[in-house]
Amino acid sequence: MGGIADTEEWKALEGAAYDLRSKSAIDLFKDDPGRAQDFSIGAAGVFLDYSKNKISTEARAGLIALAERADVAGAIRRMVAGERINATENRAVLHVALRDFANRSYELDGENMSQAVKAERGRMVKFADAYARDELLGFTGEPLDTVVNIGIGGSDLGPRMVVEALKPYWIEGRRAFFVSNVDGRDLGDALDRIDPARTLFVIASKTFTTQETMTNAASARAWFLANGGTEKDVAKHFVALSTNEMAVREFGIDPENMFRFWDWVGGRFSLWSVIGLSIALQAGSATFERLLRGAHAMDEHFRTAPLAENLPVLLALVGVWNRNFLGLGAHAILPYDQRLASLPAYLQQAEMESNGKSVSMDGAPADAATAPVIFGEPGTNGQHAFYQLLHQGTDVCSADFIAAAKTDGPLGDHHEKLLANFVAQQEALMVGREFQEVWRELERLDYPANEIKRLAPHKVFKGDRPSSAILVERLTPEALGAIIAMYEHKIFVQGVIWGINSFDQWGVELGKTLAKAVLPEIASEGGEPPAAVDTHDPSTNGLINRINAMRSAPQGKDETP
Ligand code: F6P
Repeated sequence: MGGIADTEEWKALEGAAYDLRSKSAIDLFKDDPGRAQDFSIGAAGVFLDYSKNKISTEARAGLIALAERADVAGAIRRMVAGERINATENRAVLHVALRDFANRSYELDGENMSQAVKAERGRMVKFADAYARDELLGFTGEPLDTVVNIGIGGSDLGPRMVVEALKPYWIEGRRAFFVSNVDGRDLGDALDRIDPARTLFVIASKTFTTQETMTNAASARAWFLANGGTEKDVAKHFVALSTNEMAVREFGIDPENMFRFWDWVGGRFSLWSVIGLSIALQAGSATFERLLRGAHAMDEHFRTAPLAENLPVLLALVGVWNRNFLGLGAHAILPYDQRLASLPAYLQQAEMESNGKSVSMDGAPADAATAPVIFGEPGTNGQHAFYQLLHQGTDVCSADFIAAAKTDGPLGDHHEKLLANFVAQQEALMVGREFQEVWRELERLDYPANEIKRLAPHKVFKGDRPSSAILVERLTPEALGAIIAMYEHKIFVQGVIWGINSFDQWGVELGKTLAKAVLPEIASEGGEPPAAVDTHDPSTNGLINRINAMRSAPQGKDETP
């Protein structure tokens, strides 16, 4: 049986792309003056304008037909019904249940998950509220006021990004640090800035086996014990967020101090669960609930709106069009909002860990190109770095520009300038600048003809580079929740169309396994040079031996070639 790329819907889209080969997005605007409105949609407080992408009305209809062919509507139903759509891990995918305020019941293996979700959130809220009221006391009797979230991947990127984004909602006097890297300097930098007597360590790990997190957690506990805390104080200063009670217990955290979630919450979709504890601690439980409610509003839209009027579906289809029919291999996330500085990193995991796959659900090679490379930086910083390539590089990248119309911290005309750049960059990418125009401008500036001839080609912008605008009125917790949910659903829809499992991540395993084998081969610093390693390929052996030679060298000796 053929895959999605063998369907007549796919072939029709290839035809639509061919028909557009000599047209630009600007031409499409000339053909359809109402295009800006027609290619825009709003839902749950999020406005999406995808009109600057080179998609014709026919192509959009073809994409919706493709989504129908892939049974996106059925896939949405199966997901929210708790079917084990994560087939390679035999798990349901129910992050929507974590933020369902419509009183739906989610049953899994006879257990009512809605009750379990409510109960665990209740414990989390109680704990966060006690922290906010200075009722959590440390070993000296002083109230705790600092959180160190120790986690990595989904147990770090989500809460970190949201905490940063919701800075205006922070509880006064509270501080939150996020430690993820196994590089000891990450934890070391945080420990340098905190008081053990006032610090709560939040050990966030779905599996509670992740090397980086377990290493950081053990070092944090050792530091705590060496700096005034005793074994019996650990209970006041360490909590665990996990699905693995046995491992939490083995680590030495009392299950009383554990907040639970479930295997049907994927790591990169987990900030809505107790993994969001650091958000509730830093910004308050009411803010956390507002975030959840924003996501819920987007969920309601996603599960009820027809495909053609469904914002996350349309965003996904624009991505499919750019990736599969225009052949674009990279997609930029460009938040014009400093508070969303970590959104690109968050979406890198969300999109690339979910859809960076080359095998279909049935084990056959994927039928078509899957996730593009995701990268990004906040605007306007990126403009002074990699936008050169966006505007004039040989590879065309698609981009999402994200902004809030109003700022929580007005300062002079900063926000007007930010928004002007947000708009102008998208305009420049689409409209470009033709040779004649460059020529005329240089003439106006009195450049001699030979100089104009020499310089003009360098100043041409081909334009027709696709971008979408994602706009909210203000970056409230609700708006942020809706934006994140929008991206989660976009990723899911794309995975359905590509026929892949967006919810496993086998591609991260091999490196982890090999690192375990290499670890005992790394020499201790300043120790005796170990015997040469020859158990790997020649390059790997050479690298380990070079590292070991450097680590064994007496201090001060320069070992670089
Ligand atoms: O290595 C990838 C990964 O499994 C991610 O999917 C996950 O978010 C991260 O590691 C952290 O996992 P855990 O929460 O189990 O420590």
